[in-house]
Amino acid sequence: MHQTLECSLTGETVDINQLQGLSPSGKPLLARYALDQLQDFTPEKVRQRQDRSMWRFHEVLPVDDPSDAVSLGEGGTPFLRLTARGEFARFAELWVKDEGANPTQSFKARGMSAAITRARALGVETVALPSAGNAAGAATAYAARAGMKCVIFVPEDTPPANILESVAGGATVILVNGLINDCGRLCRAACDKFGWFDLSTLKEPFRIEGKKTMGYELAFDLGEARGGSTLQLPDVILYPTGGGTGLIGMWKAFDEMEQLGWIGSDRPRMVVVQAAGCAPIVRAFHNGSREAGVFENATTVASGLRVPAAVGDFLMLDILRQSGGTAVTVSDDELMRGTLELAREQGVHGAPESGAIWRAALQLRDQNWIRSDESVVLFSTGAAVKYNHLLTADGTLRVNQHDTDWLLRLGQTLRGSLGT
Ligand SMILES: Cc1ncc(COP(=O)(O)O)c(C=O)c1O
Repeated sequence: MHQTLECSLTGETVDINQLQGLSPSGKPLLARYALDQLQDFTPEKVRQRQDRSMWRFHEVLPVDDPSDAVSLGEGGTPFLRLTARGEFARFAELWVKDEGANPTQSFKARGMSAAITRARALGVETVALPSAGNAAGAATAYAARAGMKCVIFVPEDTPPANILESVAGGATVILVNGLINDCGRLCRAACDKFGWFDLSTLKEPFRIEGKKTMGYELAFDLGEARGGSTLQLPDVILYPTGGGTGLIGMWKAFDEMEQLGWIGSDRPRMVVVQAAGCAPIVRAFHNGSREAGVFENATTVASGLRVPAAVGDFLMLDILRQSGGTAVTVSDDELMRGTLELAREQGVHGAPESGAIWRAALQLRDQNWIRSDESVVLFSTGAAVKYNHLLTADGTLRVNQHDTDWLLRLGQTLRGSLGT
């Protein structure tokens, strides 16, 4: 591999040809590439590639030969301009990157594809990880694809769809009466005892490499959507934040693209969005701290945001400050409202985490923190289908086929709901 692994705090390097977890200082390791030697790796070359998956950026991913990638076609997700109606019209340019279109319906597919590719290359037979839900489904699928065994530790109240897809995909699922950090502790103990490889996010160096491809794709998507051939970034990016791997990954992608000479030094203002019931990064950002600590009694229906402590806290907080960004919370009622608005007004069926960033964008627009002439990208990190347990079918009309007055009743309902 023509890469090195460097501690994100101290810069100390470790051997990339060995399995690695955290750095000797207990911090995330980041992959570094000899970018100055990649003269042939240009946007034009990337555009010409038949492969639309994230592996079209294979020069900056953990493979020597792209045919070694463990792939299910992740990446290349839709980039949609939201229709300017109702409150959505309050933004000059509002875009969604729809990560729910990935294999296993979330952006976790990108990280797992990269991490399991590297783990397989280094001979791993069993991977284990704690998950809030979507990472479990993704790890299950990629481990199956790689011919590996997979062990998942999830909170017992994880969305049923995530548990079922992992069981169906052949993973061993352990339900824990605690939160994701408790799952992480038990997972670590099991890895030490049984010799499994711990795939915990940011405690393993390559999930972030997969997730950073969201940043590469965004620059291509926005440039192409605006009709040009240059790579472009928006003024503001909103990201629903748990462990923060996607946010840190995108920022890394922007730096790499600048070193490659693909973009300049301008950066979007990055916004961390968390649930009011679990907001360690928002709290630390507004306290002026560089460490977030643990958010006690974490609770939210947006399971991906229920991450009370993040090992990459200092990286996220640095990015928010460097980018001139901010951090906001959204209540559970508000984020569910946002989820329905995206579905009903835009046809985008996103996870509750996606509803959260839409409502956060409105909050920031109300404060004029996002100005009316700015371009904004929402990262819809997952699809609604995994969260059906949060929905009800209260608004449906039941019809008995032998009723004689059903058309009358339908007419009454339509008058109420469609205003006809
Ligand atoms: C749908 C969804 N959005 C956002 C997140 C948070 O992602 P990250 O850990 O990269 O902050 C998760 C994590 O589980 C998720 O499943």
